[in-house]
Amino acid sequence: MGKFVISYRMLNFASLALAGLLLFTAPVLAILLIVFMIVGAVFMDSDVSLRILEKFGTKPEDSFLKNSVVWITGASSGLGEELAYRLSKISGISLVLSSRKEKELERVAENCKALGCSKVLVLPMDIAEYNMHEKCLQKVVEEFGKVDVLVNNAGVYQQGFVLDCDFPVLKRTIEVDFLGQISLTRLVAKHMKDTNTKGFITFVSSIASLGVPFTATYSAAKAALNCFAYAVANEWLECGIDVQVVRLGPVITQIGENSLMRAENQVGGSSSAHHFNTEYNPMTAKRSIELMAIAMANKLPEAWIANKLCFLCMYAYEYLPTTTRWIFGKPFLQVYKKADEATKK
Ligand SMILES: NC(=O)c1ccc[n+]([C@@H]2O[C@H](COP(=O)([O-])OP(=O)(O)OC[C@H]3O[C@@H](n4cnc5c(N)ncnc54)[C@H](OP(=O)(O)O)[C@@H]3O)[C@@H](O)[C@H]2O)c1
Repeated sequence: MGKFVISYRMLNFASLALAGLLLFTAPVLAILLIVFMIVGAVFMDSDVSLRILEKFGTKPEDSFLKNSVVWITGASSGLGEELAYRLSKISGISLVLSSRKEKELERVAENCKALGCSKVLVLPMDIAEYNMHEKCLQKVVEEFGKVDVLVNNAGVYQQGFVLDCDFPVLKRTIEVDFLGQISLTRLVAKHMKDTNTKGFITFVSSIASLGVPFTATYSAAKAALNCFAYAVANEWLECGIDVQVVRLGPVITQIGENSLMRAENQVGGSSSAHHFNTEYNPMTAKRSIELMAIAMANKLPEAWIANKLCFLCMYAYEYLPTTTRWIFGKPFLQVYKKADEATKK
């Protein structure tokens, strides 16, 4: 039998054939990916991985959330309140509910108990009062002995063009939406590490982190939160602490009415102040939280939850930033100019 020899010419031919194949398949794959993203964006209300997990992943009831201690900030209304109700249905779970309004927290706690969660701690806390965080953590540990999960959900929206806003308003948004979260997260993560707890920390972020006009500091705070989360996710790889970012599109809650406006001590109040809640195909809090609970149960590092066309905007801004800004920048500004007028009435 003759000896088989790989000649230089054969190698050359093989590498040329491989390059040709790649050249041919790369555009086809790219087109398939774009079609897949567009179809996904039009027909789905979450990213593809979350959608797959919704069908085939671990259900919240069967997940690590069972028998865990979950601390939810911003639990007195909207998404935090809805999450408290969703998690109440998981067996053995203990809930810590925080925000500033104690009475509202008591109301939510009563509802959680009615849904089957017997262990609920109401813990009033202003997320921007950083020096109170240590004391609050101590109270949780005294009550439940540990913290397994922290949901950084407390937040405030801000409405107004930067040049029309007083600086203290812009500063306050960053203090509540960013600095407060990192102060509390740092303490809780340290506690998790010191007690060898396999902890889980979620940051409730927003698609505004792509940079939305009329809410510049809110956008900036959420973008900073994303970056902080990505960084600590790596830092804490060896501590057994998992970190998650959930980016939400518009959801129907009271966030518009609770918005900080242009001047200090001025909060949103008119229905037109939450223009984005009515014009941009918002989701219900119930559906958003169902998806978020699935993302948590499966420890998905990042989840995008938004209604259909909003998704298309998210993909376009994320992956084609220059073209998208060039095409949509001015029309987008007109929408917010209308909102500006409406909130001044
Ligand atoms: N709704 C949306 O369209 C949407 C979209 C993307 C992301 N998000 C995010 O989802 C989270 C929840 O918002 P939501 O829509 O549920 O709005 P919401 O109904 O206004 O709830 C905000 C929660 O944050 C708490 N909070 C505000 N300032 C606080 C402070 N200084 N210290 C402690 N707690 C504070 C509020 O409670 P107290 O007033 O009792 O303090 C309330 O429980 C926010 O982080 C928001 O940015 C919402």
